[in-house]
Amino acid sequence: MTDKMSTHQAEEDARNEDIRIYVDGELKPRAQATVSVYDSGFMLGDGVWEGLRLYNGSWAFLDEHMDRLFEAARAIDLDIGMDRDGVIAALRETQRANDMQTDAHARLMVTRGVKMRPFQHPSLSRSGPTMVIIMEHSRPQLPRPIRLATVPHLRGLPMTQDPKLNSHSKLNCILACIAAEKAGADEALMLDVNGFVNTTNACNFFIVRKGEVWTSTGDYCMNGITRQKVIDLCRADGIPVHERNYSLVDTYGAQEAFLTGTFGAQTPVGSIDGRVIGTGEIGPVTERIRALYKGLIERECA
Ligand SMILES: Cc1ncc(COP(=O)(O)O)c(C=O)c1O
Repeated sequence: MTDKMSTHQAEEDARNEDIRIYVDGELKPRAQATVSVYDSGFMLGDGVWEGLRLYNGSWAFLDEHMDRLFEAARAIDLDIGMDRDGVIAALRETQRANDMQTDAHARLMVTRGVKMRPFQHPSLSRSGPTMVIIMEHSRPQLPRPIRLATVPHLRGLPMTQDPKLNSHSKLNCILACIAAEKAGADEALMLDVNGFVNTTNACNFFIVRKGEVWTSTGDYCMNGITRQKVIDLCRADGIPVHERNYSLVDTYGAQEAFLTGTFGAQTPVGSIDGRVIGTGEIGPVTERIRALYKGLIERECA
């Protein structure tokens, strides 16, 4: 069995050595695409980001990504310094500079900018925001279903650092992932503050029980765009779907489990804490949802 892997594994693509990266309005070769050591994002994880995918010349669910980005920026009181059209123009400029048409992934990051001095107070960031767009050729390639391990790191309450925020600082998720790796898994399954199964450190999480699709209530996890699309597709196609609390007992007993995210769409889960889920391979409901999602992408990005 293949050993180490991650949910964001992609085919090797030599073209990614020569990409142009957007840094504050300039398109720079990879080696020269740098930010200041005084940048709020580098120094403190003070920023927000989006991951987007390009299919057939179109950025999938662009409106939803822009809504989430601007909402997150408002929540952390960060002025992006341009409107939606400006951000979309920057994305398209980066796409053009890289001559990308399909199967590309963008990480669009906005931080509070360069600080005057190396301390926390946000008022020290006076230069305006830093915006970076990394766009890579990207075809997900997972050699086997994902192995998950539950970890002690929880999805916190919204009054600490709301886990809905796509903030640069992902330390809680990274610690969760490290713990999962040390337990021999690929990614962490995280519980909420009440002990219900919530999400993984980098994707949303679903189980299938007796033909029904279950996911968490949506509290304590990222409001994943793929998550919402899967829920909507199930509803439209007559697959029973529930956003509800459920435990590890329900999860270990599931016939299928899968992750959702912009990068991997729907990623099958083979085992959790050493328990094989279903057959350990992708199950029929996950296959059906994958096909529905593929159809949605084809319609969205025609
Ligand atoms: C913690 C976490 N959960 C879930 C997701 C998936 O969200 P989406 O479907 O919008 O890509 C992400 C992606 O950024 C994430 O960081």
